Amino acid sequence: MVQPNPLFWQRYSCRKFLDTPIPPDFLESILEAARWAPSGGNTQPWRFHLVRNKGVQKALALAAFGQEFVLEAPAVIVVGALPEKSAKRYGERGRSLYCLQDTAAAVQNILLEATRLGLGSCWVGAFQESAAAQALNLDSGERPVSIIPLGYPGEPMPQERSRLPLDATVRRID
Ligand SMILES: Cc1cc2nc3c(=O)[nH]c(=O)nc-3n(C[C@H](O)[C@H](O)[C@H](O)COP(=O)(O)O)c2cc1C
Repeated sequence: MVQPNPLFWQRYSCRKFLDTPIPPDFLESILEAARWAPSGGNTQPWRFHLVRNKGVQKALALAAFGQEFVLEAPAVIVVGALPEKSAKRYGERGRSLYCLQDTAAAVQNILLEATRLGLGSCWVGAFQESAAAQALNLDSGERPVSIIPLGYPGEPMPQERSRLPLDATVRRID
């Protein structure tokens, strides 16, 4: 069998970080990876907020129902979706679907690039949207879709990881 890119296994949700600062060029590379995600009609309906401010991180952690590692991480990227940018071109499908798919693709690029650089990351999606938007002072109409704490891992990849077997998820139509 052809081996998939090992980054897919190496990435895991890391919820404990060292204080070691992240080299600035690593953060730029991660943001660059985000920018190269695909998007419907190449509309790029997103904004990437790079946060290295403990006051803002505290507010984000509170918005995320007290997930403290959002505060503890040396950096956090919040990916915001711009539904009206997608709607301008694709109407309701753009507003309610494409902009979320586009930003999800950008989030995955961020996670994989962080992994490639030896950084830990986690996709935090459980948060109160209005509180996160307020913490970042977002323009009205921008939806925060993912809070991504980043840093050198303070915990290893769990030994036990599980995924449904391929047979349970793949339907083959020959
Ligand atoms: C949409 C979405 C929302 C998530 N929200 C959270 C979250 O709020 N807090 C958290 O610790 N992990 C969150 N996760 C991470 C998942 O729990 C994790 O990806 C899953 O358990 C698989 O583990 P792995 O990432 O280590 O492979 C989220 C993941 C996704 C894709």
